[in-house]
Amino acid sequence: MAAKTQTTLIEQKVSNLLKQMSLEEKVGQMTQVDFSVIGAGPNSEEIDPAKLEIAVAQHHVGSILNAPGMPDVKARPLETWRKITVAIRAASEKTQLKIPVIYGIDAIHGATYTENATLFPQAINMAATFNTELAYQEGEITAREVKASGLDWNFYPVLDVGRQPLWPRFWETFGEDVYLASALGESYIRGHQGDNFAAPDKAPTCLKHYVGYSYPLNGKDRTPAWIGERALRELFLPSFASGVLAGSPTVMVNSSEVDGVPGHANHYYLNDILRGELGFTGFTISDWEDVNRLYTRDKLAASQREAVKMAVMAGVDMSMAPFDFSFPEILADLVKKGEVPMSRIDEAVGRILTVKFRSGLFDKHPLLDAKQNFATPEAAKINRQAAIESIVLAKNENKLLPLAKSSRVLVTGPTANLLSALNGGWTITWQGDREDLYPADKLTLAAALRQKNPDHVTFLGGGSYEHLIKLDEAVNAAAQHDAVVLALGEKPYAETLGNIDSLQLPEHQLALGRALLATGKPVILVYLGGRPRIITELAEKAAAVIVAMLPGMEGGPALADILYGDANPSGRLPFSYPRATNGITAYDYKAMENFDGASYQPLYPFGHGLGYSRIVVSDLHVSKPVYAIGEPVQVSVKVGNAGERAAKESVLLYVNDVAASVSRPNKQLKAFQKVELNPGQEKTVQFTLGPDALSFIGLNLRRVTEPGDFKVYVGDLSAGFALADKPKSPAPEKSAAKANRTKK
Ligand code: GLC
Repeated sequence: MAAKTQTTLIEQKVSNLLKQMSLEEKVGQMTQVDFSVIGAGPNSEEIDPAKLEIAVAQHHVGSILNAPGMPDVKARPLETWRKITVAIRAASEKTQLKIPVIYGIDAIHGATYTENATLFPQAINMAATFNTELAYQEGEITAREVKASGLDWNFYPVLDVGRQPLWPRFWETFGEDVYLASALGESYIRGHQGDNFAAPDKAPTCLKHYVGYSYPLNGKDRTPAWIGERALRELFLPSFASGVLAGSPTVMVNSSEVDGVPGHANHYYLNDILRGELGFTGFTISDWEDVNRLYTRDKLAASQREAVKMAVMAGVDMSMAPFDFSFPEILADLVKKGEVPMSRIDEAVGRILTVKFRSGLFDKHPLLDAKQNFATPEAAKINRQAAIESIVLAKNENKLLPLAKSSRVLVTGPTANLLSALNGGWTITWQGDREDLYPADKLTLAAALRQKNPDHVTFLGGGSYEHLIKLDEAVNAAAQHDAVVLALGEKPYAETLGNIDSLQLPEHQLALGRALLATGKPVILVYLGGRPRIITELAEKAAAVIVAMLPGMEGGPALADILYGDANPSGRLPFSYPRATNGITAYDYKAMENFDGASYQPLYPFGHGLGYSRIVVSDLHVSKPVYAIGEPVQVSVKVGNAGERAAKESVLLYVNDVAASVSRPNKQLKAFQKVELNPGQEKTVQFTLGPDALSFIGLNLRRVTEPGDFKVYVGDLSAGFALADKPKSPAPEKSAAKANRTKK
């Protein structure tokens, strides 16, 4: 059916439904409750039929979220989820209008809360792959496993840009660059939704957390961000623009505040920008309890009633309440008293129903076949490849790596033998820290190394973060080996529970590193964690450094593949790895950040990453010296593999606008491509820089392109061109991610 006809048909169905709905049914659709509201009790996965009836038939809730078990929410068997879905669908069927409940879940690196799901590298790692094809495949597989679980809607991707490494949700972002975040987010959405997210193996996504959530001044989750409108439009909005363009039908609102205005009360962001400029037509959902928090936390509203009115009138369409029915009750009263117009209710409910129709919920598809679509060997293979490509080899002195199989290796350290260290938060439980619940058939780093080379690998350590390895034992063990793999890093966390005051590593980890380095044995430092803790002292003395962050459930074998050369590392840092805890200058620094003593001196820069092949980049070429404004700029560069191993190489193209009416970054990533090169092979990589690659947010806070000189960079090469002063209309607010990316 042609899209236009489909849209019209849905519009008619929504309009017909709205005419039949009572006020209570309408405000119920705007309400989302946690599973526990229909659950049989704490930690129970059973539904209480009476509570289900109250929620669905009496309060007409539009959505349910989260896994069973509150307060100890945890992954459930596939069959349990399918049973839950069948019960909820049956309850909706018994209502007069039979409006289906849409079940939302956080499936941020796979179907988090379904046991044995394919759990990918976390976003910070997917960014390190610089591989939009892998992001697309992750979206495809996640959608399949969410739908096979009987769930409907994924609260993902996170399109916040991670420019504050202290922030405990840094690892949920695609790193510090807006172009990279836009490109990966867009690809993920296209994989997850396909051309029609009503398809049995597709599902709607959710852009979060709109907008400016990821840059808290003090680095703590849900604390104020002071982001001026120019920075907002330059750094934090474009990824959401890409997500809207990619067709995501829902947006989750920022739990915090920007420039003094909480996200849930920001009419300007939620209407003028999100809808007026970005053209978003889906529905917005609050984050956890955030409507009430306008009153209980932010002191913006003098009562819960005022908070409900404020949020709904600002543009929040659905409230993640999540534990009671006060939201719909208050909202209905506000409408009855004329304080909230019915037109606003109809607008919100219309959006919600439209997404439900577009999601195929009214079509009552049978549950997706689990055997063909859940935790398949093909999915595990793609996950392994993603893990391998997400790992960054940051240092490899004297080509110590890859290790010879005959070399005797000691593997030790607090994160060496933990699956939770590879996966991080939102894994089986919210905090991801229940090692006892992790699948027994998945391998930690230590287990993977021992499986690959049992006669030459010894593991020293425990299976918990609290097990402190005795320094003398470690030193004595190192003496019996040729090399030491030392795995350090962070235990998993999510949201505010991950707040810290310093990026410094815990002292016992530094002491262990110092003691092992003092043995004189070559140390291979493997860093696992959600944000870059300071490893400088150890990294500078280590023979090799691998920044693995959170490579997911296949991370152990992927690391073993890289350490023994069964895989050629190709990961590139999607963030600047700080040298010191205050070293948080981003790679796209301004000239004044590299002046008069200030400088960009990370331990490892954005885009850094080594491999086992020598890659030669040459002949960076711009097709002509002068372009008209608005004319696409053609750039080419040659990339060759001078090594003996097949390699994958991410070619990153940066642009610098030499001088403009507002200060410009020294460079910005504006295109990238990942190429495969056999030994001796050379390829010419072509880029086309569209108008939005050369534009910026001008003095008028709108996107402009100005004539003048530009530079392009790939690796150490640079080339120049100029834009002539035949100005055309300002570049439209297009997805920054569109240019130069291979798409399915
Ligand atoms: C959380 C998170 C959000 C998540 C939601 C539902 O507080 O901020 O990312 O989607 O609640 O779990």
